[in-house]
Amino acid sequence: MPRIRLHLPGGSGPDRSYDILVRPGVIGEIGPTLAGYGVRRTVVLVDAAVEATHGSAVLESLRGKNIDAFTIAVPSGEGSKTVDEAARIWESMAHRAVDRQTHVVAVGGGVVGDLAGFVAASFARGLPVWQVPTTLMAQVDSSIGGKTGVNLAAGKNLVGAFWQPLGVFTDIDTLVTLPDREFRSGLAEVVKYGMILDGELFSWLEGHAESILARNAGALTRVVERSAAIKAGVVEKDEREQNGLRAALNYGHTFAHAFETASGYGAMLHGEAVSIGMHCAARLAESLGRIGPDVVDRQRRLLEALRLPLAAPKSGSSPDSLIAIMLRDKKSVAGTLRFVLPSRIGRVDLVDGIDAAAVRHVLG
Ligand SMILES: NC(=O)c1ccc[n+]([C@@H]2O[C@H](COP(=O)([O-])OP(=O)(O)OC[C@H]3O[C@@H](n4cnc5c(N)ncnc54)[C@H](O)[C@@H]3O)[C@@H](O)[C@H]2O)c1
Ligand SMILES: [Zn+2]
Repeated sequence: MPRIRLHLPGGSGPDRSYDILVRPGVIGEIGPTLAGYGVRRTVVLVDAAVEATHGSAVLESLRGKNIDAFTIAVPSGEGSKTVDEAARIWESMAHRAVDRQTHVVAVGGGVVGDLAGFVAASFARGLPVWQVPTTLMAQVDSSIGGKTGVNLAAGKNLVGAFWQPLGVFTDIDTLVTLPDREFRSGLAEVVKYGMILDGELFSWLEGHAESILARNAGALTRVVERSAAIKAGVVEKDEREQNGLRAALNYGHTFAHAFETASGYGAMLHGEAVSIGMHCAARLAESLGRIGPDVVDRQRRLLEALRLPLAAPKSGSSPDSLIAIMLRDKKSVAGTLRFVLPSRIGRVDLVDGIDAAAVRHVLG
């Protein structure tokens, strides 16, 4: 069975390595796996949209091994990634006398994964958490790597913690119920992995766009497995974004965050913003002479084949207001703009000190 091991040996601290299990039907292994860890009690935090389907499959697996499980449903959508929602969950966990022996199980997309991870990191100074990602975005990205958190009015993900899960159960079958637009949004991150680290994956995507869009199980397993392995590999080498490696994952994201902020959260899906952001970043790299037009073109054609957008709606914000947002981004360094830019397909560099005029040009 495909199994990806994320190695975090921890030096003098405890080993925090874990497995990412990618395959159809793997939800059924949650009960047996947790029982193997001696777990007796769980809190299942589940996205309300999948409570009756994938949530109940998780409960069935847990209860099949006599593991006590109580569910807290989280309303769907980014609006739930708040301190208020975390507080509601903390209170109901306290009410149920949750203690350090209780494990948290997160079932849903990145919203529930990030929120549940944060609740687990903070409640009783830290409970073990398991991730059960049910969106493509969560399967290829957010469930892996231990970044958890909530949004503030002042910005996304401003409060949070690094808190690694004990394991990730990635059940490809859960994607069957995912709306098309959400599915395609996740594909933007997959294209990103090809661009930053894996030219072979990129070429494979070019040849299989139709079977991916048709959600062919074999194609999906391959895409998710490869993406998860790439993300895990990056996290292993740079867990806390300290040596620049994890920063490569931000390819397209400086632009994307500006589009998302300018359009108001929720108007544009994250992956859609990333798709547009990668197109901007590639054009920026071309204008700086770092790549030729062929690279911009191949990326554009792949994004189009996957029915991802290349430009923000015309009614959107001015280039200057987008640049102002980028300068406020927590990833920008004192007044200059910093971007992850491709040097070929499968390779990117972190480039500092980029002139606002060059950025304005690709936004205009
Ligand atoms: N922690 C990280 O490293 C990391 C990385 C990337 C993104 N994120 C975060 O992830 C969030 C976005 O995650 P997302 O794109 O998964 O969004 P999401 O969690 O909001 O899920 C998208 C939509 O799909 C629904 N849904 C989930 N699973 C479904 C299923 N199987 N069938 C039908 N509907 C389903 C949800 O109810 C929601 O409406 C953002 O908050 C972002 O900041 C975190
Ligand atoms: Zn992203």
